[in-house]
Amino acid sequence: MNSLYGKDLITTQEWSVEEIERALELAFEFKEHRFDHPLRNCLDRRTFFMFFYNPSVRTRQSFEAAATELGGHAQFLEPKSMRLKSAKTAGETVQDAANVMSRYAVGIGIRILETAIEEYGQGDALLREYAQYASVPIVSMAHDRFHPCQGLADVMGMRQHAGRDLKGKKLLQVWGKGSLVRSWSSVQESILINTRLGMDVTLAYPEGYDLDPEVIQWAEDNASVAGGNFEIVHDLEEAYDGADFVYSRNWMTSGFYPYSKKHGIDRAKKKEIEMAMKHDDWITTKDWMAKTNDAYFIHCGPVDRGSEVTDEVCDGPRSIVYDIAENRLHVQKAIMALTMAHI
Ligand code: CP
Repeated sequence: MNSLYGKDLITTQEWSVEEIERALELAFEFKEHRFDHPLRNCLDRRTFFMFFYNPSVRTRQSFEAAATELGGHAQFLEPKSMRLKSAKTAGETVQDAANVMSRYAVGIGIRILETAIEEYGQGDALLREYAQYASVPIVSMAHDRFHPCQGLADVMGMRQHAGRDLKGKKLLQVWGKGSLVRSWSSVQESILINTRLGMDVTLAYPEGYDLDPEVIQWAEDNASVAGGNFEIVHDLEEAYDGADFVYSRNWMTSGFYPYSKKHGIDRAKKKEIEMAMKHDDWITTKDWMAKTNDAYFIHCGPVDRGSEVTDEVCDGPRSIVYDIAENRLHVQKAIMALTMAHI
């Protein structure tokens, strides 16, 4: 029996290391045998629903391609056209919607980020409410707390270039200035999955950009169980020193939602951008990369070029950003095959 059949994926932190490894192994198989893998029709005529409360390039396209390549179909759904209850809107209850959708589809993906919620944690709560009532797996396609598909694609990219065993390698997860006011999902997923798998993870950011304390505690616990290291630094010299991978990414302060509630989303965004742009040095440049152990540059996309990273680094010989984007397809095929197909 496939032990992952029917399992939700809200964060990789809720999968065992063995389950994560199984998904990665199958993703590598799908990469190698893209159109001739024995599981190529495992979703024959089946449908995967995708709710997008926020825009996407990679996630929507890679899920649609993944479903097609497994013989099924991914249906794009805009929640606002469906009278659904969300964190911000009244409508059909989650209980009813989840029950009905489970009669049509083999899985449901949900993306709910920055502007679709009013306070941190609402998106996560919505996914968990769907998971409570749906009889098919709920997959996070990025929500305010986590981005599990991205975390798996990042690991796959690092292994592609540096080998399967990343224990002892230093991953620098570094805040970058930017004007996109990002949620914490990709960064929190990254520090969780990579501490879990035994990497030495350094989280670097200017004072004031603290992440979810519960997630930080989990990352510390993961590192201790896996025999790796997890540290938080606020000094860039220390951060880049000896890194094997550099992952720069902007994220918002914890003050974003309280301020937005009081003054509106536009003013909150403007304030975040003004604060972020004061941190001039917090951009990944060739000079910072020179302090690393010839590190690979990784990013989940979309890249805020000129703010999070220079073109020179992003387009340079050590950048693996497009490989990681491609890996979204392979890992999502693996997740769908393992959780939604009778294999
Ligand atoms: N990394 C990622 O989720 O990209 P999109 O926002 O384009 O889907």
